[in-house]
Amino acid sequence: MASTAVNAKTCEISRPEASLLVFLRSELGLTGVKGGCGEGACGACTVLVDGRPVLACQMRAGEAAGHSVTTIEGLAGAEGEPLHPVQRGLIAERASQCGYCTPGIALRAAALLAECPDPSDRQIAVALNPCLCRCGCYPRIVRAVHRAAALARGEDESVAGLALARTEPSTRCSLARPERPWDMSAPGERDWFGVLGHGLVAVWPPSAAGTWPRSGGAWLHVAASGAVTAFTGRVDLGQDNQTAFRLLVAEELAVDPADVRLVQGDTDLCPYDAGTFGSRSVPDAGEALRRAAAGAREALIDLAAPRLGGPHAYLRAEQGSVACGLTGTRLPYGTLLAGTQRVEMLAGEPPLTSPSDWTTAGRPYAAPRADAVTGARRFVSDLRGPGLRHGAVLRPPAPGSVLRSVDTAPAEAMPGVTVIRDGEFIGVTAGDPGTARRAVAAIKASWDRPPPGPSDLEAYLRAHPADGEGWQRAVTSQAGDPETALAAAAIGVQATYTTAYLAHVPLETRAAVADWENERLTVWTGTNVPFAVRARLSRTFGISESAIRVIVPPVGGGFGGKHGDEAIEAARLARGAGRPVMVHWSRAEEFQQGFLRPMAVIDVRAGLDAAGSITAWDLLDINAGANGFAFPYAVPNRRLRYRPAASPHAQGPYRALAATANTFACESHIDALAYAAGVDPLRFRLRHLDDARLAAVLEAATRRFGWRPGWQPAGRPIWRDGQWVWRGAGVAVGLEKGGRVATCAEALADVAGRVRVTRIVTGYECGAVVNPDTVMSQIEGGTVMALGGALFESVTFAHGRVARPSLSGYRVPRFTDVPELDVVLLDRPDLPSAGAGETPLIAVAPAIANAIFAATGRRLRSLPLLPDERVR
Ligand code: FES
Ligand code: FES
Repeated sequence: MASTAVNAKTCEISRPEASLLVFLRSELGLTGVKGGCGEGACGACTVLVDGRPVLACQMRAGEAAGHSVTTIEGLAGAEGEPLHPVQRGLIAERASQCGYCTPGIALRAAALLAECPDPSDRQIAVALNPCLCRCGCYPRIVRAVHRAAALARGEDESVAGLALARTEPSTRCSLARPERPWDMSAPGERDWFGVLGHGLVAVWPPSAAGTWPRSGGAWLHVAASGAVTAFTGRVDLGQDNQTAFRLLVAEELAVDPADVRLVQGDTDLCPYDAGTFGSRSVPDAGEALRRAAAGAREALIDLAAPRLGGPHAYLRAEQGSVACGLTGTRLPYGTLLAGTQRVEMLAGEPPLTSPSDWTTAGRPYAAPRADAVTGARRFVSDLRGPGLRHGAVLRPPAPGSVLRSVDTAPAEAMPGVTVIRDGEFIGVTAGDPGTARRAVAAIKASWDRPPPGPSDLEAYLRAHPADGEGWQRAVTSQAGDPETALAAAAIGVQATYTTAYLAHVPLETRAAVADWENERLTVWTGTNVPFAVRARLSRTFGISESAIRVIVPPVGGGFGGKHGDEAIEAARLARGAGRPVMVHWSRAEEFQQGFLRPMAVIDVRAGLDAAGSITAWDLLDINAGANGFAFPYAVPNRRLRYRPAASPHAQGPYRALAATANTFACESHIDALAYAAGVDPLRFRLRHLDDARLAAVLEAATRRFGWRPGWQPAGRPIWRDGQWVWRGAGVAVGLEKGGRVATCAEALADVAGRVRVTRIVTGYECGAVVNPDTVMSQIEGGTVMALGGALFESVTFAHGRVARPSLSGYRVPRFTDVPELDVVLLDRPDLPSAGAGETPLIAVAPAIANAIFAATGRRLRSLPLLPDERVR
């Protein structure tokens, strides 16, 4: 039998025809090698073969015979030895969010440095370009490679000592499953101390009517050891809300953030939570955790008071102790809590530390988490366990198709395959994912297909109004009399703006593992709405929510799209098979079975008076939503309307979905008005802005950008990089979800009409900043994601379904697409903290569109702006 050396160990290759990816992951259990596309388009499966980067999904295992294969698990030396410089550089620059792409990128970067010890930015971008990072960490990764190069040369000692630790601190809790979920049990039922040990529990808000509120809240446990474990239903899908939570808890409890452990998104252990969306993690869950921690601190001070003896007013928490400012005596929390089992149901508002007095929160903090760079981080699709089967589901050829006939015999005849039918649902389970997929493909099914969808999507959405629930409910907001003002305007400008349907494209496609045990169901899945998934499972299987536990392990990106369909499929198959089952969607399923960001059609009419002031504004959004309607300009007569439509394609939540569309239309149109009035776009905005915070952000961003007033559209060309180009600068602002953003963009157009975006500066203010490093990372990553939707991302359709359901058929930003990025972060400790996951995206597209107008004189009103890189 042929063999290969994998991470310096000889391994026999039993199935040489299998892909190297399958061999490494399924046969050797090296789950640091990731799958993302199966077609050589994402780089997640990168390994080194004889030191050269290779896409493991594109190579047969047999081809590796006689060669040396290195996976991320083998990049560093033995346990205890320093990590590879690339791994240390990635940790030091905090160059990952979800971390799913990180192993492949680390290996490719290691190969680059082996050949080119001091690469330029361009060399790094080109070398790493086969690897996608959907979280948009490209600028940090480039910085990390430079850092790694310096480390390798011995010029940077700051992270020289980071060693490989096989056992990483887990963010998952090993607590035993309670009888009933937290939100369905009464306080007296809980064994608060069984696993976490003696100590103090603080719960906020208090229980009402015997059970916990279904509206958020938090609880935490301070152990006699001094360790703090905090519980929140809000999940972390790579946006790193967990570090902000740790900082807030550490601040109020006066402990080291390293001593705070978070348990998130476990429906049995965590407080009920409606879902992680809308940039509400810090404003909602952060505030709840802050109160629980502050309440615990006050309880600890009360406990210490009789023992310290000094007046209560002189007692304060510091460095994990209660200290008396008068006598100088102190009692560590551990001493106070030894042998104690105390539960504090916080009834009122505990006193909070003002952000202007923060000493721990408000400063950059990053725990040196190595699991993403060593392959130790286990994502949903990496989970393994005894008896685990792999599932696949029969899919219709297009949404709305009706099954006419089916013959499952060919699949049933395959060894090790079980076919499961549950009403209309047909799926299979098998011992490995490849066999499961082949078995589904062997099923003979015929379908009645619905008529193909419309070809003119704009006309269809206009002609099919609908009124729905939640974000799909019609909205109108009006001030003054816009129609009369429009009729009286000296100058009127009207236009229609559109945005395309977009796909979420998380690098880890949807995955879930389901396990039934005596009518109790446990599901591990990557979702931003674990409690809603629990409710869906309950409805689907007719069992109580209290019999269902949903756990969210590390997730390879979500962006608002992971809502649990795969969890239901896994649970159906697991029930039918009587064994735990994993369902892991293919990339094609991710495109075709998921839902999309809605397309938007937006009509805007506006009027100026003779002095160039905006007197009338009328915006109608069809289909996208009402987010981004917080109009920041002083216009006396204005109307903003959202009219839902019956979309012909499945659509749903997406990161900053409607705010992106509405801000694109609004800020493009404001720019058009500025040019109609003959006023510099920056001056025009500052003159009309009705929000001092936004004006401050705009001034800070344009100052950093070096805004020069008076640029004329398509003015004189300049000589740049060996050719004549037209240079344009654009600016746009946005106000959404409590954050204020201003984005400046520079675009260069050549004589052939090809346009490059060369620089983006983002100014952002979100009140009191809890962790500047996470906020900066979210701004950078969000800007990269927005760049794709602005320039080239677009889902196209054929025969009623996504036409090109693959990463080679749907372009997302890569290393070489990213312009120079710069961020100006304004801290306002006097204001409540707002989120940063969405608002930084919303002004990117209009800033670029306005820059393209300044460079070319062409006003582009449809996203994506440059599907083939040219202005037509
Ligand atoms: S390149 Fe191999 S899985 Fe994407
Ligand atoms: S960190 Fe790169 S895909 Fe998430």
